[in-house]
Amino acid sequence: MNFDTSQLDSLVGALPDPAIVVVETGEVVSANEPACALLEVSPVGKHLTLALRAPIVLQAVNDAIIKQISSQVEHVIRATVPRTLEIYVSPLGQQDGKARIALIILRDLTYEQQLERMRADFVANASHELRTPLASISGFIETMQGAAKSDPKAQKEFLGVMKAQADRMSRLIDDLLSLSRIEINEHLAPSGQVNLVDVVKKAKDILSPTSKEQNCEVRINLPESLSVTGDESQLSQVIINLIENALKYAASGKFIDIEGSEQDGSVHLMVRDHGPGIAAQHVPRLTERFYRVNVQDSRMRGGTGLGLAIAKHIINRHRGKLLIESVVGEGSQFSIHLPSI
Ligand SMILES: Nc1ncnc2c1ncn2[C@@H]1O[C@H](COP(=O)(O)OP(=O)(O)OP(=O)(O)O)[C@@H](O)[C@H]1O
Ligand SMILES: [Mg+2]
Repeated sequence: MNFDTSQLDSLVGALPDPAIVVVETGEVVSANEPACALLEVSPVGKHLTLALRAPIVLQAVNDAIIKQISSQVEHVIRATVPRTLEIYVSPLGQQDGKARIALIILRDLTYEQQLERMRADFVANASHELRTPLASISGFIETMQGAAKSDPKAQKEFLGVMKAQADRMSRLIDDLLSLSRIEINEHLAPSGQVNLVDVVKKAKDILSPTSKEQNCEVRINLPESLSVTGDESQLSQVIINLIENALKYAASGKFIDIEGSEQDGSVHLMVRDHGPGIAAQHVPRLTERFYRVNVQDSRMRGGTGLGLAIAKHIINRHRGKLLIESVVGEGSQFSIHLPSI
């Protein structure tokens, strides 16, 4: 088939993936916007090797033009951020009835590879978290079958530990399911009307046994109402986790203060503790799945390290923001910003 330059521009312009056309001398005669963005420069008018320093691609272009065969190669470009590309090269015909041309389509695999790495990390973390209590349960069963076979006192104690470990596994599974349900619906904005003040009061009631146990008082200082468009049970899950975290990790501060306001179309709710605070390097990572400052400490308190990851997804679904500020030795503040009704 024969193309003139404007036809080639229209052709590559219509392709959603980065695409380039080269002539047999190796000169680039057309490239679409995504290709220029990916290569961080327009390659048009230049030799292909200046844009893609990859002998393997030149070989593929040669094969397309001389032997008229299509091929697929992989290449990593050393751009500002290194990118892995899958490159398809096919013969295309001729330009202006003279030069033979080849079409190069580039597919950026970097994002897919990142997702794949995240998925693999997630599966490894989740398996590890499940295996820990399972190993402990198995160990106790073996002891009860052997050394503690006729020791009812030890058996009673072991059964208690096994129950706690089984509860931990079941909480972890509930949290994982909750996370995946929220992720599936994250693109659907919620439509209910929620008064956050009621949600905070209910959360305080639910957590009053923990508050007594930890000898730490939850003080509420909120206006009459703070109304947002939202999903009440999800927002309640977020608020319970924030207060519960403050009670678990910052009870030494004796008080937890919950404050809120509505300003310029935005509702703010703050959960502030006066506990040990969180070192700066941990703060940006707290909303990652399974991230805990002290894994042992969190596990001992029955934590799974998913609470803040779930909170972040819920707030995202509400088109809001979760901000974390902390000063070591003074305490932490977790604030939710949501669009008001
Ligand atoms: N108010 C706080 N003060 C100090 N550290 C905190 C506070 N809130 C959270 N953290 C730290 O952040 C980590 C992650 O919290 P997150 O709620 O995600 O998990 P978790 O509380 O360990 O487990 P889960 O919420 O599933 O029970 C905690 O393990 C703790 O190290
Ligand atoms: Mg938590």
